[in-house]
Amino acid sequence: MPKPVSRILVINDEHLVLREFVKGLNAAARSLDNPLGVTFSGVTTAKEALAAIEADGDIQAVLVDDTLYTLGKHNGSRQLQVSALDLVQRITRFRPELSVYILIAQEKEDDVVDALFTEAVDGYFYREERDYRGIYRILNAQIQERAKTPFYDQLKNYVWMAKDQWHTPGHSSGESLRGSPWVNDFYDFMGEHVFDADLSVSVPMLDSLMDPKGVIAEAQHMAAQAFGARRTFFATNGTSTANKVIFQTLLAPGEKLLLDRNCHKSVHHGVVLSGAHPVYLDSALNRKYGLYGPVPKKTVLQAIRKHPDAEALILTSCTYDGLRYDLGPIVEAAHAKNIKVIVDEAWYGFARFHPEFRPTALEAGADYATQSTHKVLSAFSQASMIHVNDPDFREHLFRENFNMHTSTSPQYGLIASLDVARKQAVMEGYKLLSRTLALAKELRAQINSTGVFRSLELEDLLPEELRHDGIRLDPTKVTVDISGCGYTVDDLQKVLFERFNIQTEKSTFNTLTLLLTVGTTRSKVSRLYDALMRIAREKRAPRRLVRTPEIPAFTKLRYLPRDAFYCGGELVPVLDDKERVNKALARRVCADQIVPYPPGIPVLVPGQLITRDIAEYLASLLRSQKRMEIHGVVYEGYQPCVRVLRVEEEKGLRPLG
Ligand SMILES: Cc1ncc(COP(=O)(O)O)c(C=O)c1O
Repeated sequence: MPKPVSRILVINDEHLVLREFVKGLNAAARSLDNPLGVTFSGVTTAKEALAAIEADGDIQAVLVDDTLYTLGKHNGSRQLQVSALDLVQRITRFRPELSVYILIAQEKEDDVVDALFTEAVDGYFYREERDYRGIYRILNAQIQERAKTPFYDQLKNYVWMAKDQWHTPGHSSGESLRGSPWVNDFYDFMGEHVFDADLSVSVPMLDSLMDPKGVIAEAQHMAAQAFGARRTFFATNGTSTANKVIFQTLLAPGEKLLLDRNCHKSVHHGVVLSGAHPVYLDSALNRKYGLYGPVPKKTVLQAIRKHPDAEALILTSCTYDGLRYDLGPIVEAAHAKNIKVIVDEAWYGFARFHPEFRPTALEAGADYATQSTHKVLSAFSQASMIHVNDPDFREHLFRENFNMHTSTSPQYGLIASLDVARKQAVMEGYKLLSRTLALAKELRAQINSTGVFRSLELEDLLPEELRHDGIRLDPTKVTVDISGCGYTVDDLQKVLFERFNIQTEKSTFNTLTLLLTVGTTRSKVSRLYDALMRIAREKRAPRRLVRTPEIPAFTKLRYLPRDAFYCGGELVPVLDDKERVNKALARRVCADQIVPYPPGIPVLVPGQLITRDIAEYLASLLRSQKRMEIHGVVYEGYQPCVRVLRVEEEKGLRPLG
């Protein structure tokens, strides 16, 4: 098993002193207990320090002497100097997860300690004391503290205690399966710890997700520190539930919410549950590739100006395709009107741990961020985090809503995986993400070298209206133009799966998107490259690719989505007996959310007016040869129908102005 390596960088501008410190500290590390493999190395200038921190992902802490450092040449002549605190700021801006200690002279104690209070500094030592063993012990303890997994450790402890179970779950540590001639294979396949770590809320040692005061509270607190939040909550039903919990906390029925129409369907479900009055913002469309991008900054800022009475704004950043907003100015404009900002970071949970991806939503000032830790870090599916930085956070209300959506029997393996994913992100996130970024760069170049496939860059992905919005691309989401390969996208996915054992993430009619994560390896990259190269060499003539029709523009919201959804309604067929568009659908009000998938954007939401264009759009999807999921369409026998409000039901509702 690989052993941890923890390097501590000592920064001191005097060569001799530095050498003595590094020698003394390494001797202490060798002679004392050292489970994390701590070693010390030294540099004398700020430039070297920053370069080492950038290059060496095993650096876990820095010990900075409080002096002036040279950073490099200024205006080609004079040396630029920075103070220790300035250097610390640069270091923590680059890698906020690092522990930082300062070496000070005793006589400067008051000044330095005052300054430290405002900085991300963990502590200080007196330079003159040269207490190497003491310094080592403290630094080592600090790294061990960050590497703790309070919930996971307790779960293991409990499992090893092997208590007799007189409680749920029914499989009782897998006993019900292990001896069974019928289902013991399931036990063997899943592995013993899946069962013995599947425990019940009846075990007080394991704390309660609904009222955390012990190891879950501790694990959540450590996650908050790691992700730069005031508070963090573990969600065991994905970001889908996380979004709903926040909506129900922030929005009372009838209160306004500004939202990207392209938000995930959980956001639209949250609108129904909370009773919010949604104001939909249209996302920009890249017509060439059928990709829906962020909402233009102008549109968001206009909406904020036009609806200063809105309670909240929610945006997705980054999007599925890796496009991320320049959030700072948007958050600032929203906060100026007292509008809370929620950012759905389902695809961006790792961003805090590499400067290439920052600022995160919280760093840009967002009040809430929801992250599918399971999508991009090492947590189990459904394990997500809700980060809160809202200065007006109403904890009691949040707790009520959180508990409303949380099973009273949460899966403890999921909670442990969140604890472990946080530890990994803090201890080796920078290193793994540096590798992922390098692999993404390599893969992009390899894809382009096939001469047939092309990886799309920011300029290719951005629709015209977003060009000046400061949008950036997360390079670990690789969208590939497949239009020259001679296959339709469905056929290409089939070939990749059947011939080359490769399953991709998502597609449009002429693109495939590949997701690189901290789990992507070089051999996986080579296998994909090999497959694409072989397909390219087959030199097929390009196929005509059929565009998915564009989603019609939003029409009008007649009633609150919640009011419309809870009407009984009636089913109206989309097509008539002759397979023509049913004229009776136009002018009616939809009671459900109708979502063609992909791209997953609702064509209709509850309360929305159906027009002839929309009816025609739905009919064209239903008639098309390409099998497409259309969530919300109901079949009465063979007839696809949409649930709409009855005329008398409409009379009982208050129309929106
Ligand atoms: C933008 C966005 N938000 C939220 C979700 C839901 O996340 P989860 O799968 O964790 O419930 C998804 C899932 O694909 C998503 O794409």
